Amino acid sequence: MSSLSTVLCIVGTRPECIKMAPVIRALRARGRCRVLVVSTGQHRDLVAQELREFGLVVDFDLDVMRENQALSGLTARIFESLDPLLVETAPDLVLVQGDTTSVMAAALCAFHRRIPVGHVEAGLRTDDVASPFPEEMNRRVTTVAARLHFAPTAGARDALLREGVAADRVFLTGNTVIDALTARAEAVEPAPTARPRRILLTAHRRENHGAPIRRICSAVRRLIERFPDLEIVYPVHPNPNISRPVTELLSGIERVVLRPPLGYGDLIAEMKSAQLVLTDSGGIQEEAPALGRPVLVLREETERPEAVAAGAAILVGTDEDRIVAEATRLLLEADARAAMTGAGSPYGDGRAAERIAEICCAHLEGRAPVVDEFAFGGSARHVAA
Ligand code: UD1
Repeated sequence: MSSLSTVLCIVGTRPECIKMAPVIRALRARGRCRVLVVSTGQHRDLVAQELREFGLVVDFDLDVMRENQALSGLTARIFESLDPLLVETAPDLVLVQGDTTSVMAAALCAFHRRIPVGHVEAGLRTDDVASPFPEEMNRRVTTVAARLHFAPTAGARDALLREGVAADRVFLTGNTVIDALTARAEAVEPAPTARPRRILLTAHRRENHGAPIRRICSAVRRLIERFPDLEIVYPVHPNPNISRPVTELLSGIERVVLRPPLGYGDLIAEMKSAQLVLTDSGGIQEEAPALGRPVLVLREETERPEAVAAGAAILVGTDEDRIVAEATRLLLEADARAAMTGAGSPYGDGRAAERIAEICCAHLEGRAPVVDEFAFGGSARHVAA
């Protein structure tokens, strides 16, 4: 039997893959532990495709996804299928990333087996445990279960310390999404576009199911009518609560390009060729400022206030008039766009995964980590925009 420690890296959804992939690679590059990749299967198809883009494969697939899955059923299936795998592989450390149901369930499963958990992207918070639903609850539960907390920003670190997490377990690493973006962005060309103006739109969150997604679609129609030279590209999430209304309200409209979910490279290409990004996605809120693209956040609140504070993003919510007004202003005023894009990225310096790998190895080897902290100096440096 190998004397190497084992680290189990759990991913459930596509964004977790993107943000965990740099950590898996950094850990493997050190060659000091065995690194296994587990997909819960919460997003069966998207995960394998995404990992392939990073040159990674799934070692174990728990295959838990069901059509229109309910949260408790999903949680129960993860508990039942992950626990035997923890027994079989006997990891010394389990890594989770973010705030999905996969993360929360895997962290609790590991806790039940007394296996230390490292939480990548720890400490994001809103004031309301029920919003975003269920992510805010997921990340709070994960914090309680975790041993090592990798905070992407100073604000996230401070939130953990305020909640009483021991300071020697909290590490300010930056967000691994910037590592992923840095690794990929340079090689990606902007997506070809036939129109002078282009918006990239994504919306998928549970809080936007129902009336909000319909208001977002109405705003899209009004923007398309107002700007004859505008194209809006929308990669549509497969969740039927999103795909059904979006198809009903936006398919067949000229210059609205509905696309299936995009792989990471294609999404970067779309961000690069857009003048403006409208999104409710956490990852895109982090990536677009790093690429120098202004962001309108289609949510009432965000646990990523740094880009808003830096002036790179505006929280517009899902009020139809407000979306149309802000998008119109930014499409018409190059100066207003430039004021937002000069802000740079407060989320990372591309070295988060390296720091996390060192901290994990130090933990496994029972020594103090040799690591610096991520510091955002307010620089306007962009990632290969
Ligand atoms: C999930 C996460 C959310 C994350 C998002 C990223 C939870 C509760 N939600 O939301 O935090 O931001 O992923 O994408 O963890 N589906 C497919 N194929 C897929 C993926 C989803 O058909 O590849 C459909 C299925 O019908 C599934 C439904 O989408 O039942 C909902 O999936 P679920 O993972 O529960 O929620 P998401 O909205 O994807």
